[in-house]
Amino acid sequence: MKILVVGGGGREHALVYRLTHGGHEVIAAPGNPGIEAHARCLPVPIEAHARLVELAVSEAVDLVVVGPEAPLVAGLADDLRAKGIPTFGPGAAGAQLEGSKAFSKEFFARHKIPTAPFAVVSTVAEADAAIERIAQIGHGPHSGSGQVVVKVDGLAAGKGVVVASDAAEARAAAREMLEARRFSDAGTRVIIEKRIIGREVSVLALTDGTRLEVLPATEDHKTIFDGDTGPNTGGMGTVSPSWASDALVARIRAEILQPTIAGLAADGIPYRGVLYAGVMVDEAGTPWLLEYNCRFGDPETQPIMARLKGDLGAVLLGAARGEMPVGALAWDPRVAVCVVVAAAGYPGAVRTGDPIRGLDVSTTDVVVFHAGTAHKGADVVSAGGRVLGVTALGISVEQARGKAYGVVDRIELAGKQVRRDIGVRTRLGGVGL
Ligand code: GLY
Repeated sequence: MKILVVGGGGREHALVYRLTHGGHEVIAAPGNPGIEAHARCLPVPIEAHARLVELAVSEAVDLVVVGPEAPLVAGLADDLRAKGIPTFGPGAAGAQLEGSKAFSKEFFARHKIPTAPFAVVSTVAEADAAIERIAQIGHGPHSGSGQVVVKVDGLAAGKGVVVASDAAEARAAAREMLEARRFSDAGTRVIIEKRIIGREVSVLALTDGTRLEVLPATEDHKTIFDGDTGPNTGGMGTVSPSWASDALVARIRAEILQPTIAGLAADGIPYRGVLYAGVMVDEAGTPWLLEYNCRFGDPETQPIMARLKGDLGAVLLGAARGEMPVGALAWDPRVAVCVVVAAAGYPGAVRTGDPIRGLDVSTTDVVVFHAGTAHKGADVVSAGGRVLGVTALGISVEQARGKAYGVVDRIELAGKQVRRDIGVRTRLGGVGL
């Protein structure tokens, strides 16, 4: 097959890596210097929908895989399908599951998908009342510490969420969003929800709108500093498989993913793409859906693609056509650990343009995925907050960590930021090899 992958980050590099290793010809738009090692990259930005559609037509691709959420929310998959191009990624209606948190929370409530109590507000007065009411919900799994989470409705690159330590902080966060307009139109509406205390897991499933192929669960490390401290990022590292047991993943499938597929069908929303469930598991072991993303996770995709065996291209094409084969994928039993190398300043104002050295690593069990890189003269330089995702396979978390950090430590990038504890809390021992 000839496949167009839209995007140019670490997730897309991992997808291109797996698709080309599966024997497919891949072109990428816009791609990045890492993707260039496997695929022809065309300088078409992800916002240029008409040019992307034109590219898919002129290159006569068999399939388009859309990586990032913004073009999905803006309807790129609809535009491609309108030209008869098989596309992996939901249309604008389905992508609202990520594009609007108010839409998604109301969807969860309507279809009885377990999620924290919430309110959607659009004024500071409504926010204050909701914060007081929701903080007092003090029974059952939501008892927690009386804390609430304040989120903007729209897309905010992972930055529009405040886990408030008390009501005053929650009120201040709501004012920043609704009055100071820190997130512009994304913050026209705000969601106030009860904080669920527990442990998070990312469960990604491929779907054609009817069938589900649940991928191995992954554990993300969201904050910038070790020990889960500091501000949130897009993700500083991931481990697959995660701490979540098969029984827990089966429960997430039955209680969250399947009702979602049924709910989408009942609401008349076609969905062909990834359902990425961000799930919080409380102390009693009950999974609660925090949010959906409508695309592959980043950096969840990196360890998943490192472990994937089987023809990913055939499964994505099947999903795009509404006839996804189930059970066609197999998984390397080893553990994959992805350690993100971030630029100085991330997740705040990022310094870019610094040369990166030590990228010439090529082994069968360590891959350096490029996330935010660019060419500058003869150099590859940093060009984004998250720059690289060094991903290693090992027979245990410890072995995979050792290999990943061995490469990370040889990479030279001025002011680089790396969490040293990726996988430490995964506490997964050997995997029986
Ligand atoms: N790793 C978080 C995300 O992909 O949104």
